[in-house]
Amino acid sequence: MDPFLTAKPDFLWEYLADIAADPSNPARVVTLATIDSEGLPQARSVILREAAPWALTIYTDKRSPKVWQLKQQHRAQVLLWDREKRWQLRCSAKAEVITEGPETEQLWERIKDTHAAQDYLTPQAPGEVLDINALAQEVPQFAILRLHLTEIDWLELRREGHRRQRLTPEGVQALVP
Ligand SMILES: Cc1cc2nc3c(=O)[nH]c(=O)nc-3n(C[C@H](O)[C@H](O)[C@H](O)COP(=O)(O)O)c2cc1C
Repeated sequence: MDPFLTAKPDFLWEYLADIAADPSNPARVVTLATIDSEGLPQARSVILREAAPWALTIYTDKRSPKVWQLKQQHRAQVLLWDREKRWQLRCSAKAEVITEGPETEQLWERIKDTHAAQDYLTPQAPGEVLDINALAQEVPQFAILRLHLTEIDWLELRREGHRRQRLTPEGVQALVP
């Protein structure tokens, strides 16, 4: 069934969850855009870790600038480009920053003995001027970014004519591409 014709976003959650679960899928590297304290845009690549209805999850270092940007201004966008499907998903969201509690503890238990654990134990915060004498952290500097989606702008590039839809929890609207 052509997902565009069903006019329901339900299939998208499974599609996004499959991307998140597949490290070989290039679409798993998404762009997260935030707004800094001067009102300027800040975009960077991050890995899409989980997807559920109207929620995307990203892991990060809680000392990173994106975390305090999102604490000050929780509006954000996640941009995904799926080269194979020729789909662009521009997901507007309100971000929730989770730095403690059972969810972070369970995740840390899962990754603490993996190579990825080192990312959350670096001596200094991401973006700081390098100090070669700084000591490694003993406590993981782990944060979960849960992006609660408010709107998805979905563009499909096709030879027969591009297609675009705006999806919100309230419904779906076809747009001029
Ligand atoms: C392919 C790729 C994947 C990345 N994945 C993540 C990620 O999942 N989480 C993260 O915090 N940073 C990730 N980074 C690093 C960020 O792009 C960024 O450099 C870092 O998080 C600092 O961002 P900030 O200074 O805006 O907070 C990734 C970078 C690349 C190139």
